[in-house]
Amino acid sequence: MDASEELQVALRAAREAGSIAAEHAGTDFRNDAETDSKSSANDLVTAVDRECEQRITDVIAESFPDDRVVGEENETGVTGEGREWIVDPIDGTSNFATGYPYYCISIGLRIDGEGVVGVVHSPDTALGRTWYAAAGEGAYRSDDHTLEGEPISVSEHDTLAGSMVFARLSERSRAWLASDLAVATTLLERESMVRRPGSSALNMCQIADGSADGYVVLSINDWDVAAGEVILREAGGAFRDQLAGDGSREVIASNGSIQKDLEELVDTVVGERHD
Ligand code: IPD
Ligand code: CA
Ligand code: CA
Repeated sequence: MDASEELQVALRAAREAGSIAAEHAGTDFRNDAETDSKSSANDLVTAVDRECEQRITDVIAESFPDDRVVGEENETGVTGEGREWIVDPIDGTSNFATGYPYYCISIGLRIDGEGVVGVVHSPDTALGRTWYAAAGEGAYRSDDHTLEGEPISVSEHDTLAGSMVFARLSERSRAWLASDLAVATTLLERESMVRRPGSSALNMCQIADGSADGYVVLSINDWDVAAGEVILREAGGAFRDQLAGDGSREVIASNGSIQKDLEELVDTVVGERHD
């Protein structure tokens, strides 16, 4: 499939949302009257998340009126059928909402459940980079937010020792925290460098461009990883996605070379928790 139009539309939508986010960058949204918390005090949604999602939905609908758009804030689910745009209007909302410059806009397109396009755009008020990919066309990163980026590929680091691995320490669910801590502890014991910066989409892109090696997250939603999966696979990485016990996704992603070690570690540490 020639996905060049889809890629252009996804980039336009991401950049427009990125401009909205950038206008408010550095603001402390925690006590804003329009900020709500979802599952916990650390699970925020700001007026800017909602405005970004609306803009992205409008831009996609202008070009592809028959496509379904599933956004984090519109509370619809992924069906795995037909053309579905899967949108995280701001990934790293807690960072954005406290003024910490580490967040992005993430837009993926799946057709019948298969990822075909991914765009992850971090505006200049955050990392100032855009990663993108279309299935079969390679993965790219651009510092000027155009489709004229440089090809990217995963690292060749092949041991857990010395690897840079993103883990999660759940800020929102005590039920997951013990498992998260067990995974992070074991990674540290195996001499991985463990990081938890707070944006799944950026984690995936940084593995794709070789600046990190792996990512383990025991419970996550489709919009956190839909774009990143396409970018990572196109950059040569590996991605294991399983249903977690509560209906969310468990994802293990990497440069491929440490995938088996990460999978074994998670399966051993967390044990028989899948349905
Ligand atoms: C969150 C981030 C974070 C992950 C959380 C996600 P949000 O998304 O991706 O890295 O640990 O599980 O919910 O709320 O900032 O869009
Ligand atoms: Ca997210
Ligand atoms: Ca979000």
